[in-house]
Formats: sequence, C-alpha cells, structure tokens
Amino acid sequence: MTDGRPDPGDWWRTSIIDTEPGRIVIRGRPVEELIGTWTFAQVIWLMTTGEELTAARAKLLEAALVAAVDHGPHAPSIAAARMAITCGVGINNALASGVNMLGDVHGGAGEQALELFTEISEAMEGGRSAEVAVAEGLDRWQRERTAYVPGYGHRFHKSLDPRALPLLGLVDEAAEAGDVIGRHAKIARSVEKALADEKGRPVPLNIDGATAVIFGELGCPPALARGLFCLSRSVGIVAHAWEQSVQGGRNKGPVPPEYGLTYDGP
Ligand SMILES: CC(C)(COP(=O)(O)OP(=O)(O)OC[C@H]1O[C@@H](n2cnc3c(N)ncnc32)[C@H](O)[C@@H]1OP(=O)(O)O)[C@@H](O)C(=O)NCCC(=O)NCCS
Repeated sequence: MTDGRPDPGDWWRTSIIDTEPGRIVIRGRPVEELIGTWTFAQVIWLMTTGEELTAARAKLLEAALVAAVDHGPHAPSIAAARMAITCGVGINNALASGVNMLGDVHGGAGEQALELFTEISEAMEGGRSAEVAVAEGLDRWQRERTAYVPGYGHRFHKSLDPRALPLLGLVDEAAEAGDVIGRHAKIARSVEKALADEKGRPVPLNIDGATAVIFGELGCPPALARGLFCLSRSVGIVAHAWEQSVQGGRNKGPVPPEYGLTYDGP
C-alpha cells in the first residue's frame, strides 16, 4: 500500500507468466525451454491449466484440436468470418466475428455436453449403474435445460459425424494403455444409444460432444472446454477469412442478392 492506495504492481495477479525485460517464464518454465521442444497442444494445456500433459494425453488433445478445425462456409462461424472480411475489416476482426458465433448451439455445445457427462459420471461414482445414471441425467437435462441434448445431432451428418468415431477410438486406446480412465467415452456412447432409442433413429455424437469427451478425460472444466474448441475452430476461421480476402468480394451478404426474403410484416 502507498498513501492508503494499493501497490500498482498488485493490480494484475497471474500464475501463468512472469516477465521482465529479457525474461519470459511460462508456468515456471523459461520460454526458451518450450520453444522447439513442446508441441502447441502441450503449451495450450500448460497455459490454460498449469499442468504438463504426458505425450499420450497430449496426443488426445492434439487430435481433438485437429478434428474441430473447420466445417466450411455452411458453418455459421465460418460464414460470418467470410462476410466480415468482405466488409473491409482486418483478419483479426473477421476472426472475432467468427468466434462470436460459437455458442450453445454451434461450436460451444461441448461445454454443456461436458456438464452432462460430468453429472452422469458423478452419479455413477455415487453408486448408480451406468444405465440408470444416463437415463436420469438425460431426463433431468431435457426437463430442466432443453430437449436438445448437447453434443448430439448435426445439420448435415444425420446418422454419423465422421469425426466422432476416430476421436472415441483414440480415447479407447488411451484407456486401454491406462493413460485416461475412459469413462467419458463410455457415457457418451450410452447417451447416444439412449437418444437413438428415444427418437427411433440416430442422433449421433457430434464434434462438440466428441471433443468434450477428450477434454473431460483430460480433466478439463466445462467452461474451459468451450475455450479449447474456439482455439481449434479459430484455425478454420482464419483460413477462410484469408481465402475470402484473396478471392475478393465486397459486402457479401448471407445469400446472393438475386434471392429475396420472405416479408411477413404489415
Ligand atoms: C446441431 C442441431 C442444431 C442440428 O439440428 P437438426 O439436425 O437440424 O435438428 P432439428 O432441430 O431439425 O431436429 C431434428 C430432429 O432431431 C432431434 N434432435 C436433433 N438434435 C437433437 C439433440 N441434440 N437432442 C435431442 N433431439 C435432437 C429434434 O428434436 C428433432 O426431432 P423431431 O423430428 O422428433 O422433432 C441440433 O442437433 C442441436 O441443437 N444439437 C445440440 C447442440 C449441439 O450439439 N450443437 C453442436 C452442433 S455440431
């Protein structure tokens, strides 16, 4: 305290980084040690959680980050970034526009999926059988939150999201090797089966749900899982914003101008 006021040096408190002229230390490791030896995925985990991932667990994180990287201009986040760039903003603004589209229904559902998986997992730890825990968890979710179960269903991939199987396969391998527990993967499959039974057709585990399985196996809190998904999708958003800027196009709207809209006002 100086003059009764707080020390300005205490204004920002962080255990992520210590830096002064000529010195950058990240989570206790000089950045020079990380450069050239740590993968980007390992550094993401170190930065966000403070923990060091083993190579096997880092492989899972890497796979999740790769899988969610893009879904093309039909994905609202990508379309928004491409439209933004045609409005004359910079690539950073286009990136922000795209990331801002990632919410509970698109790209951000992993957060809720992980909340659901965690609830079910805790019920199992409390002695419920997997079947009962899944049924109760789904029932509670659909009554108290929404009929849409997060992490399942897709506008295009109606019976199978091609990204889900390899991701769950990697979790199974890691579980067999003792690198993760594997419970989130089992829960995700049981929820998928229960949903299919409820609907009488598949409502497949989607990319938000499959990456949530990996984030959960690694011990990531749900709200942070959404941040990790955004990091991955940012790659696709930047790539599309860049491609659009090279292609050109000015003030591009969501549909070609030849298409009208349905006016139903007075
Ligand atoms: C992604 C999503 C918007 C795609 O929707 P869609 O396939 O176009 O689905 P619709 O809203 O047209 O619904 C089609 C049917 O599937 C059902 N359905 C789709 N996703 C469902 C889900 N996650 N949980 C329960 N039912 C679902 C709908 O209830 C509807 O059933 P009905 O025909 O009996 O009324 C939707 O699946 C969803 O909201 N999922 C949860 C959020 C999520 O995970 N988002 C990330 C997507 S990658």
